[in-house]
Amino acid sequence: APSDPDLVERARAAKEKLGDKVFVLGHHYQRDEVIAFADVTGDSFKLAQKAAARPEAEYIVFCGVHFMAESADILTSDTQRVVLPDLAAGCSMADMATAEQVAECWDVLTEAGVAQDTVPVSYMNSSADIKAFTGRHGGTICTSSNAERALRWAFGRREDGRGKVLFLPDQHLGRNTAVRDMGMSLDDCVVYNPHKPGGGLTRQQLADARMILWRGHCSVHGRFSLDSVNEVRERVPGVNVLVHPECRHEVVAAADYVGSTEYIIKTLQEAPAGSKWAIGTELNLVRRLANRFAGEGKEVVFLDRTVCFCSTMNRIDLPHLVWALESLADGRTVNRIEVDPETADLAKLALERMLALP
Ligand code: 13P
Ligand code: SF4
Repeated sequence: APSDPDLVERARAAKEKLGDKVFVLGHHYQRDEVIAFADVTGDSFKLAQKAAARPEAEYIVFCGVHFMAESADILTSDTQRVVLPDLAAGCSMADMATAEQVAECWDVLTEAGVAQDTVPVSYMNSSADIKAFTGRHGGTICTSSNAERALRWAFGRREDGRGKVLFLPDQHLGRNTAVRDMGMSLDDCVVYNPHKPGGGLTRQQLADARMILWRGHCSVHGRFSLDSVNEVRERVPGVNVLVHPECRHEVVAAADYVGSTEYIIKTLQEAPAGSKWAIGTELNLVRRLANRFAGEGKEVVFLDRTVCFCSTMNRIDLPHLVWALESLADGRTVNRIEVDPETADLAKLALERMLALP
């Protein structure tokens, strides 16, 4: 549905009043009505880089989810304020690893005698606490656009090449990167289940594993299946299947191309006219791309018509954005995301390792 013209005008007016004082970042999964007001759009890596690019902006309005706003707060100066237009915009995957569970996991690895061989690599989609844990134990953050480089860095920490990685919290990104990009086998990976004693793993399994994958996943991407891929290939002959690496391993293995949201956009930009694409990622982005590229003669379809929006990304809508911008324009800081300094320092270590990856 087209946006309410009154709200569009209010957002425009509030943004104009704020001028250079506000910098609006928008993740690719945001609604069109929100993306229309973003100064920068990007995948989570690009947004983490861009957050720090406007030090003169007093307010950073983050149109995305909670962990992204936390990362922006960590990477920007103490005087800049990061605002999340709806505080209920979380990420179910990030919620699958709590600080207590991860501390317990480290105890399990320590008791099994493997902690000293293990480097944590945590997906951006995690709380600041998990990022701090990662920083404290010499690990790095990664996103879907640099997971391979992060794993190569982590395994390169040990000269004998016998190290392990504890990958948090997305088992699929961890497994897909290890197997697809690093040439490991599925048997090199074990899954640590935080709801079972000892993670549900034996000492021997921990000793043999190269990748210890946390049992987390994305509820949106987890719904694409091998059937989705097979059906779209039948429905659209000659289609190229392009999916996000948060999809399950069998989906990624059956796809033609795999990458982050920014990669998906770039791939479509470079695709020849007449080509056909089935995209396995969040619906707001796929719809936008279908509209945008239809004019260039590229057919873009959704990989599985039964999969829906990311409900938490969708919580940021035009009314919330208007409310946030008008409040800031009136001098009221609302919905500020602020990570405590001790957590932020350690988390920053891990984020900076990512930003410095070769
Ligand atoms: P990107 O880094 O590819 O934008 O992914 C973020 C995300 O939350 C995917 O579900
Ligand atoms: Fe989290 Fe999945 Fe939504 Fe991304 S799409 S924000 S991983 S729930």
